[in-house]
Amino acid sequence: MTTKNSTDDLSWFVHDRFGMFIHWGIYSLAARHEWVKNREHLTDEEYQKYFEHFNPDCFDPKDWARQAREAGMKYVVITSKHHDGFCLWDSKYTGYNVTKTPWGRDLLKPFVRAFRDEGLRVGFYYSLLDWHHPEYPIDSHHPQSESNEFRKNNAKRDVSKYAEYMRNQVKELLTQYGEINIIWFDFSFPGEDGKGRDDWESQKLIDLARKLQPGIIVNNRLDLPGSNDFETPEQFQPQEQPKDVDGNPAVWEACQTFSGSWGYHRDENSWKSVEQLLGMLIDGVSKNGNLLLNVGPTARGTFDLRACDRLEGLGQWMKLNGRSIYGCGSAPDDWKAPTDCRYTWNPQTKRLYLHLFAWPFRYICLPGLRGKFGYAQFLHDASEVCFYKAEEKGNSSFKITPGDLVLELSIRKPNVSVPVVELFLND
Ligand code: GLC
Repeated sequence: MTTKNSTDDLSWFVHDRFGMFIHWGIYSLAARHEWVKNREHLTDEEYQKYFEHFNPDCFDPKDWARQAREAGMKYVVITSKHHDGFCLWDSKYTGYNVTKTPWGRDLLKPFVRAFRDEGLRVGFYYSLLDWHHPEYPIDSHHPQSESNEFRKNNAKRDVSKYAEYMRNQVKELLTQYGEINIIWFDFSFPGEDGKGRDDWESQKLIDLARKLQPGIIVNNRLDLPGSNDFETPEQFQPQEQPKDVDGNPAVWEACQTFSGSWGYHRDENSWKSVEQLLGMLIDGVSKNGNLLLNVGPTARGTFDLRACDRLEGLGQWMKLNGRSIYGCGSAPDDWKAPTDCRYTWNPQTKRLYLHLFAWPFRYICLPGLRGKFGYAQFLHDASEVCFYKAEEKGNSSFKITPGDLVLELSIRKPNVSVPVVELFLND
């Protein structure tokens, strides 16, 4: 039985706050969701065309890594294997890997090197589901779940052999690529016709990961409550900081997409704006959480222009405002942010960051903060934001609740996606 990571091991994770998720595999050719094999009930034979045509001739991991760094991201997690079972590395335990496609060579080695060179930490996502492995019994989530003919063969499938296969592969991933900072197992669905810890042999898997990479940070999808280092709300922003099994505030990371699908989806038009994405990042940090924002590269090996555009917008904001994100977390409980605002707080520098999601009319009132702060400025240009003193200005119609701090803002919103006011705590 292994123990969870210590606060020390997690310190970089809770400091850095912002990472890139990458979903890439042969489903990128279908370009209509990484679950296409399941959604369209494709057999291995029908899905094979994507394997046979995988040739990402424009793959340039240095460019990916540069874009991630410039967006302000500090770590990356890539799908080494997704549910379709296809592996991005030269695994000796299956021929269903990238070296047997027209591309013909390992993708993870150059990937890991490029991201490390840009100063990012590296994690591997590894799918527990596997819709290709011959020993993986058909279950409710399998592309052939509705086929009695396929189900008949379940008697010949031995899930313990599959669990061993996973351990062998995880060993490859955690011994051949240097230091790996995160392992992101996905996912469990215990119960009738599902799979959970007994099928995956989750305890052995997590023990192995922690033994091979003692500092590694492990997510929470192995169906082993209490063994994980962080929680992973997916495609939603929690209302408050999630709790761990003991009811204590948990380390957590929301994973989010640009448009709904994780894998490249050509025809999806539900792309979030830069402002919305920033809102999610800030909202997460204000509740002590991280954001893992996903890119689904194309089958040519490039980032879709819509992704590049969002990353660039995020980067412009992060360059000047990253100080309200890195090293920050939630503000003390009794400091309640005004409507349409989020606070983040840096306990080291003792600065409070007020993020304005909607631009107020001239004044903003910060309940209970009067007398606590000595100076305030906009973060993007370090221009002073004045404390408003209604009494001194003789404005009798402006009633300020005692104890509240009022800031006097410009009439017009500054030209920043989400303006931030930085407040310096008095000694
Ligand atoms: C879900 C999906 C999967 C995606 C993952 C990311 O579990 O099955 O396609 O990789 O979420 O969190």
